[in-house]
Amino acid sequence: MQNGGGVVPEVAAREHIPQIIPLVKKAMEEAKVSVKEIDKIAVTTGPGLIGSLLVGVETARYLAHFWGKPLIGVNHILGHIFANWLLREKGEVKFPVLVLTVSGGHNELVLMESFEERELIGETIDDAAGEAFDKVARVLGLGYPGGPEISKWAKKGEAGKFVFPRAWMEIEWEKKKGDPENFDFSFSGLKTSVKNKAEKMGDLNDQDKADLALGFEEAVCEVLGRKMAVAAKKFGAKEVHLAGGVSANQRLRKKAGEELEKVFGDESPVLKWPVKMEFCTDNAAMIGGAGFWVGEEMEPGEVRAKAGDFGI
Ligand code: KG4
Ligand code: ZN
Repeated sequence: MQNGGGVVPEVAAREHIPQIIPLVKKAMEEAKVSVKEIDKIAVTTGPGLIGSLLVGVETARYLAHFWGKPLIGVNHILGHIFANWLLREKGEVKFPVLVLTVSGGHNELVLMESFEERELIGETIDDAAGEAFDKVARVLGLGYPGGPEISKWAKKGEAGKFVFPRAWMEIEWEKKKGDPENFDFSFSGLKTSVKNKAEKMGDLNDQDKADLALGFEEAVCEVLGRKMAVAAKKFGAKEVHLAGGVSANQRLRKKAGEELEKVFGDESPVLKWPVKMEFCTDNAAMIGGAGFWVGEEMEPGEVRAKAGDFGI
């Protein structure tokens, strides 16, 4: 599915077709679940690569029809949000909850007053954090996906060797009326800054790569952590959740905790991330969970993958 640094949409979609039914079978075998025990079928309807979404939706529609089960459409980002509920008791979560969802394709702050009341309070205006990780990794000649690679290299980096721009301090976005803070993100400038630095340095040795990786990772995690903490304070969040592929990042988890402490002192809200590493990056359990709790049942004829809708 990958071609030296990313997913080729057309190839990915075609690869889904022979894999999807054997995958469903394998998942049911491993989970020791029979068709009879399945209550509903949940499927991602978007946003995402349209070809791959269509394969998933059409397969789910076929299975729902064939097995006589309700079909539940789930927004992908909603899935990431509810990854934090997996293996937790629903009643145990204290609202309001502020969720930072950070992935390759999206980057949002979502405020939840309850399960049903969800408000988008900030999002990226250009690159998502994960996308920036992937692009910077490519610039440094590291592997794909870039997030885990950058983290690995950053561990050997020298702290403070490179300090890259933190977009919330340096760029004045148009502020939302009456709002003292702006909770949107921008990572495109940071990515370009690392790229320019690397190009200027010419041939990079391993230490250069490690130092650049650390400087970049520090900048991303500080912006994410700070914005999240300030928003948590402003909206009185009782819990703060990290979600999406980048929530696997150890530095982000640590920075988020530190920023919350800076902003709140001892009264910090509870900080959570998905209880298993595999619930951070894209996974089927999160879609099942969100489908179980909040997804909407689809009409049989209505089911088509929707691209690009946020649905929060
Ligand atoms: O949620 P996800 O699996 O897919 C999307 O919905 O986009 O997230 C994938 C993204 C990739 O950009 C990848 O580089 C990033 O998550 N990622 C990480 C880490 N693990 C995955 N970024 C930083 N640190 C990590 N440990
Ligand atoms: Zn995702």
